[in-house]
Amino acid sequence: MRARIPTRGRPADGVLTDMESFRARDANYKGGRTFSLVYWAGDAHHDLLKRAHGMYMAENALNPMAFQSLKRMEAEVVEMTAGLLSAPPSAVGSMTSGGTESLMVAVFAARERARVKRPWVRRPNVVMPTTAHVALDKAAHWLGVRIKRVPVDAKGRADLRAVKRAVDRNTVLIVGSAPSYPWGVVDPIVEMAAIARRRRIPMHVDACFGGYILPWLERLGVWFPGWDFRVPGVTSISADVHKYGYAAKGASVLLYRDMDHMRHQFFVATHWPGGVYASPSMQGTRPGGPIAAAWAAMQGMGESGYLDKAREAWDAAERLRAGIRTLPGLRVLGLPHSTVVSYTSDDPGLDVYALADQLEAAGWHVDRQQDPPSIHCSVGAANAGVIDDYLADLGRAVSVVRADPSLATRGNAAMYGVIAAIPVRGLTDRAVRDAMAQMYAPGATTAAPGVDATVERAARALKRVKDAVRGIWRQP
Ligand SMILES: Cc1ncc(COP(=O)(O)O)c(C=O)c1O
Repeated sequence: MRARIPTRGRPADGVLTDMESFRARDANYKGGRTFSLVYWAGDAHHDLLKRAHGMYMAENALNPMAFQSLKRMEAEVVEMTAGLLSAPPSAVGSMTSGGTESLMVAVFAARERARVKRPWVRRPNVVMPTTAHVALDKAAHWLGVRIKRVPVDAKGRADLRAVKRAVDRNTVLIVGSAPSYPWGVVDPIVEMAAIARRRRIPMHVDACFGGYILPWLERLGVWFPGWDFRVPGVTSISADVHKYGYAAKGASVLLYRDMDHMRHQFFVATHWPGGVYASPSMQGTRPGGPIAAAWAAMQGMGESGYLDKAREAWDAAERLRAGIRTLPGLRVLGLPHSTVVSYTSDDPGLDVYALADQLEAAGWHVDRQQDPPSIHCSVGAANAGVIDDYLADLGRAVSVVRADPSLATRGNAAMYGVIAAIPVRGLTDRAVRDAMAQMYAPGATTAAPGVDATVERAARALKRVKDAVRGIWRQP
């Protein structure tokens, strides 16, 4: 039966009890059995966020004249972040709803800047490594900008020669990550920014993941290459305060070296009967809650709180890396630049997706990756207490999968295996679109009805393609 608005409003207790029951099967993040998605800093901090968010739940930052307090908190979050990322006094920026919006706005501003400063640019493109976050592909797709992806080296760093080759007169932006989501590696930003400078192109650093943890790790003595505003040529940086800033969801910061770069992100309309309209980002109504909670998070944590959390997350990531290295057949990807731990299997008898199924059965929320098939763990302070349990379960999973390699052809492992193996990406694209159409079909209230069926259809289609190719091959 389709959900309907109840005829009469219900008492709050009943509404909240229902919501509590809906959560029963959600990912368990407080206990540390979920890596990424939620950055949990404990009950006391959560309570502060809830109160700050609640205080500003109704306010709208679209009109800073009406809500001066939100303007002040946004400006202070931007300033505190600029300090953290060693920005010059000229630095400016704004808050957005998350990493994806920050990247969209950064690409938009670069495209608009090129329109003004380099009018010969007809088909704008962005040069970035294959490991740069897919939100940039989404941004480019929505903004009609082409992406020129360049390969990464064996450790997951952008290939500099390929970057140099890819940049052309239509390039409006070069992007590197600090760190990249899939492998947790910081790109050679110093060298990439030097290329950008020479070619007079803006350079964006996607520090959505690392912006609020790498500076603390640096203070703790962890080494990774330079990536922030101390690097000449870096013109903008995105940093998600709703990740390692331990703020409420819906908060990211987009910083520019100066207003000359930022001004291109503003939208102004003067013709509208509704009045003159100006907006700094993609949103119209800008919820006050995430801005207030971000400000409160930074005040509540302070440098000491962030350093403690960074230390806990780093120690946990290091213990996880070390434990995985003791398991024969598994290999940690990339370099220890951050708290991302991704690992793959070099042993054909040890299917990584079958391992993922075993971990999931043991109650872990698992992120599966491709190219190569791998498991991703964004480690946070909340995971610190369960690393030994994870390693024990992983060790058991390795034994189970080795003893029965056919597990790779069953369950979710089979599905992910097919997706990773389908060479015609269009088939995967079709299958996933069909699955999404089912997920959003009338009456669909669970996350993945029929996903298996659509992927199976794709696998059958792949087999037909393979058979047809074999048929042609065999013809005399
Ligand atoms: C490096 C990087 N950039 C961008 C994003 C996108 O952020 P969001 O999910 O907040 O839109 C992520 C998300 O994990 C990320 O790791």
